Amino acid sequence: MCGIVGILGKNPVAPLLVDALKRLEYRGYDSAGIATLENGQLIRLRAEGKLVSLKNKLTKRSLHGTIGIGHTRWATHGAPIKRNAHPHMTEKLAIVHNGIIENFLELRTALQHKGYILETDTDTEVIAYLITDTLYTGKTPLEAVQYSLSRLKGAFTFALMFAGEEDLLIAARRGPPLAVGYGEGEMYLGSDATAFASFTNKVSYLEDGDLAVLTRNSVTLFDENAKQVRRHKKKSAGGILLISKGNYRHFMQKEMFEQPESVSHTLARYLDCARSVLRPQKVDWSAVTRLSFASCGTAYYSTLIAKYWFESLAGLTVENDVASEFRYRNPPLSAGTLPLFVSQSGETADTLASLRYCKKKGMKTGAIVNAVESSIMREADIVFPTLAGPEISVASTKTFTSQLAVLASLAVAAGKTRGVIDKKREDALIGALIEIPRYISEVLKLEPSIESLCREFLRANHMLYIGRGTSYPIALEGALKLKELSYLHAEGYAAGELKHGPIALIDEKIPIIVIAPYDHWFEKTVSNVREAAARGGRIVLITDKRGAVATALIAQATIMMPEVPDIVAPIVYAIPVQLIAYHTAVLLGTDVDQPRNLAKSVTVE
Ligand code: F6R
Repeated sequence: MCGIVGILGKNPVAPLLVDALKRLEYRGYDSAGIATLENGQLIRLRAEGKLVSLKNKLTKRSLHGTIGIGHTRWATHGAPIKRNAHPHMTEKLAIVHNGIIENFLELRTALQHKGYILETDTDTEVIAYLITDTLYTGKTPLEAVQYSLSRLKGAFTFALMFAGEEDLLIAARRGPPLAVGYGEGEMYLGSDATAFASFTNKVSYLEDGDLAVLTRNSVTLFDENAKQVRRHKKKSAGGILLISKGNYRHFMQKEMFEQPESVSHTLARYLDCARSVLRPQKVDWSAVTRLSFASCGTAYYSTLIAKYWFESLAGLTVENDVASEFRYRNPPLSAGTLPLFVSQSGETADTLASLRYCKKKGMKTGAIVNAVESSIMREADIVFPTLAGPEISVASTKTFTSQLAVLASLAVAAGKTRGVIDKKREDALIGALIEIPRYISEVLKLEPSIESLCREFLRANHMLYIGRGTSYPIALEGALKLKELSYLHAEGYAAGELKHGPIALIDEKIPIIVIAPYDHWFEKTVSNVREAAARGGRIVLITDKRGAVATALIAQATIMMPEVPDIVAPIVYAIPVQLIAYHTAVLLGTDVDQPRNLAKSVTVE
């Protein structure tokens, strides 16, 4: 995740900005930069790679300004090179930004038509020029920001500093968290309170939609309707807690809400999103005849979805195993097989043992891993990083959607190389993948309605999740998430399997969550839903507008999803099942981030 900091100080702020950025290092980043004002002039320093490169630059060129902003960038739009590093600047302002501007292409074109020359691949620069353009019309910085905000779509947060304004920082939150720190004649901004923990522990978190105007002696906050508001000021534990939840209730909630950005970051590694093309591959897919996946839990479900993709898009035979079974089965491994291991932690004992089994058999192995420098990452021959950033909550959320983003990108690449999909289909699939962050942002807005729906699950002893095709593994994932977080009993089934046993469980007390995008499995799923409804089951349908129309009479409740292309449906439909598990657990009062008996990294068999 990108990290944002801002300081209105009494002394030169450059070293303090670097210190604050250091405290945000845990979020992951690939370039960094700071900007200050000297005699009203904007000056910045940026460097690729780790903060030490920026520090080295600072030893050669010291900055004297007492106001500044800083950023660690986790690339989403554009490569992690200096040109794309923040702060971005125009004549009038400098900006640091976290999140995604969904309509940036449209705005970029409009700005270019007005004669602005945009030099980077980022969506951030579009915000900078949009506000600059408004400033040229004579508006004040606050008015210009307010007006520009109304034109931006997406989930994002930014902080701004203006040329000639030595006592002004403006920040806005439309998604990712932002904290304000209160000092004595000094003020701070940070992606979380950890950033300024060594300067102050007095903090308030912006609510979603807030805009903050900071001077050295005042903080004025406005809500999304531009109404002046107050936000609770509290003492932060940032000095002790290295990674903070911001104003989310749990790490899990924070991580679910990070998904538009984390998936975007993942996709940027595998696709050149600006040109809508695949990036070069580490695997020669024409030499692969069979894929053999071995993983555990949620990671295993990601491979079940991948099976549909690799079979249909690349014509590859795919085998899926839970790693604890694979490692002891003595499975034969033919030439042409690529064993692939998916793991968030990279330390899961069974997955690691399966990888070692394959290596011992002389196989070239691949791994899709999140934790950098983990055992699986070190030992696999080909590594596909998921790049979702650190995940603190025991339950996997953002790492699951990033695993899927990697697998979908690889399946498209395999299909292209193996000549199974033509250029037109490839373009359509890539276009669909690029849209995932936008769809996820849209679905996250359903949180309040999903939360109220969850109240009725509290009376249930059992729940069923069903789906067909790529929605079947999402049903499994939904049931797993509910079990592990709320301790309610839940099962996931292929909808077509209902009548072969589980239908006996159905009575009027059992909620049945149906994962049913309007895809080519939809009609079949609906037939199974009718069978369940006829036996009194309480149907909760997760579908889109067309699906809702077709099922109006059988569903007691509907979670209305955006219409999405088939390839992205499992990634987007993972969000409501995460939200259901989360809110049911919160309502039941369980320990959401650390459910009983579970560990984040399972290093035992
Ligand atoms: C469920 C969950 C687990 C993990 C499983 C594998 O929310 O997180 O089921 O997916 O323990 O862990 P990794 O991915 O670290 O190998």
